[in-house]
Formats: sequence, structure tokens, C-alpha cells
Amino acid sequence: MRIIVLGPPGAGKGTQAKLLAEKYGLEHISTGDMLREEVKRGSKLGNIAKEYMDQGLLVPDNVIVEMIAERLGEGSMGKGFILDGFPRTLSQAKALEDVLGGMADIDMVIYIDVDDDVVVRRLGGRRSCPKCGAVYHIVNNPPKNDEICDKCGHPLIIRDDDREDVIRKRLDEYRKRTSPLIDYYMKRGKLVRVDGNKDIYCVFSEICIHMDKFFKSSAMEGKE
Ligand code: AP5
Repeated sequence: MRIIVLGPPGAGKGTQAKLLAEKYGLEHISTGDMLREEVKRGSKLGNIAKEYMDQGLLVPDNVIVEMIAERLGEGSMGKGFILDGFPRTLSQAKALEDVLGGMADIDMVIYIDVDDDVVVRRLGGRRSCPKCGAVYHIVNNPPKNDEICDKCGHPLIIRDDDREDVIRKRLDEYRKRTSPLIDYYMKRGKLVRVDGNKDIYCVFSEICIHMDKFFKSSAMEGKE
């Protein structure tokens, strides 16, 4: 199964993608995590990306498309994959179709719809583990020990782009450049919308209903 998770910054794309990957045995591919890894390594790509990320701007399409094409070309995707944070522009969506060889290859686009004020509250309280990638929220999903990762014991950090001025810029970029994808995938009959304002496990159950429906209809059609 090949899924895209779409939504504004802080919608819960990463949180839901991790839960789905675990439940359905899918590979979780997050362009944000891949870029942060490059920044940490101090690679050429990381240095280019950092300039854009720190300002809340999208990294240029050619850089992202090259990175994702390489990742998808590596194979070993288990039962399929979940793209989290890609595509983010119409040009990236078209490039993805070229890589996959046609829209038919994306099975479902899960659009997590969240209000702006919820986004600002969520990102303001997010804490991330730079070692294992686990994500928490100081109120909604706190770690057991203050500021320490439950999974690996590493101290948690606040992401550089989770400052309020950068969050506003990321929301602007989303509205201008990413939100047209909602219509794009709706017209192609791929989009399912879920209400992302609810709590993490309510959102997850709603997505699972769509996933299970998809698996059931694929099984009836004799597809995997
Ligand atoms: P990226 O890392 O993808 O950032 P983003 O899209 O802005 O999304 P976030 O990671 O901030 O949020 P999320 O939706 O994953 O929410 P999360 O689950 O963490 O990208 C970062 C940057 O990289 C971009 O700005 C850009 O510069 C660049 N980039 C990446 N991909 C690119 C691309 N394709 N093209 C160009 N540039 C690209 O949850 C947020 C918080 O809320 C957490 O604390 C969580 O615990 C909490 N939470 C989650 N769900 C709920 C819920 N239902 N109820 C209550 N709390 C919740």
C-alpha cells in the first residue's frame, strides 16, 4: 500500500504516520526527518536545506525530488510506504508520479485537517528526541520523565523551526504552496479527509477505518 499523509505543520502527520507504519507494517518516509538528518551530518544537502528550514520556507523542489527518488529507488519497502511531508507542491506531486509511473500507484492520500490556532498550540508544546525521532507534547502527550525520551533516555529538544514567527511562515507556505494538493488529489479520487483537531487516538481510529476499508475492497478485487 502506498500512502501520502498531507496537512499543515503540526497537523500530526508524523505522529499518525508512525502509528500507521507500526500497525500496518509500512515504511515511514518523512522528508522533514531526512532533511534534519542531513543537517545534523553537515552534508552539502543539509547546509542548503537548513537555510530554508530555519526561515520556515520550503526547500527547493529539485533538491527534495532528487532525495526522495533516491530513497524510493532503494527498495525494501515491506508492505508499502507512507510519505509524510512529501509531496508539498504540485511540481513535487508530478515528479512523484514520474518516479512511481502513474497516479494509480498512490492508493490513498490522508488529509489531516486542523485549525491554525490548534497548530500553534501543538507546535509550541512539541518536544522531539534528536536521537530516535520520538515526538512528544508537553500537555497532550508528555514523556514519563520531564524532557527525557521514554524510548531511548536521550534529552528532548525544541525544534529550531518551532518558534512562533517561523511557525507563522510555515503556515503561509502551506497555504500558498501545499494546500492546492488537496484539490489535486480530491479530483483524482484519492483523498480522504480526517478531522485532526481531535485527540491522537481518535484521529488514528478514523484513519484506520479508511485503511481497513481499503484493504477489504482490495482483497475483494483480488489485489494485495
Ligand atoms: P516537517 O518536519 O515535515 O514539518 P511540518 O510539515 O511543518 O510538520 P511537522 O513535523 O511540524 O508536524 P506534523 O504534522 O508531523 O506533526 P507532529 O506529528 O510532529 O518539515 C520541516 C521543514 O523541512 C519544512 O518547513 C521545510 O522547510 C522542509 N521540508 C520538508 N519536507 C519538504 C518538502 N517535501 N518540500 C520542501 N521542503 C520540505 O505533531 C505536532 C505536535 O502535536 C507534537 O507535539 C505531537 O505530540 C502533537 N500532536 C500530534 N497529533 C495530535 C493530536 N491529534 N492531538 C493533540 N496533540 C497532537
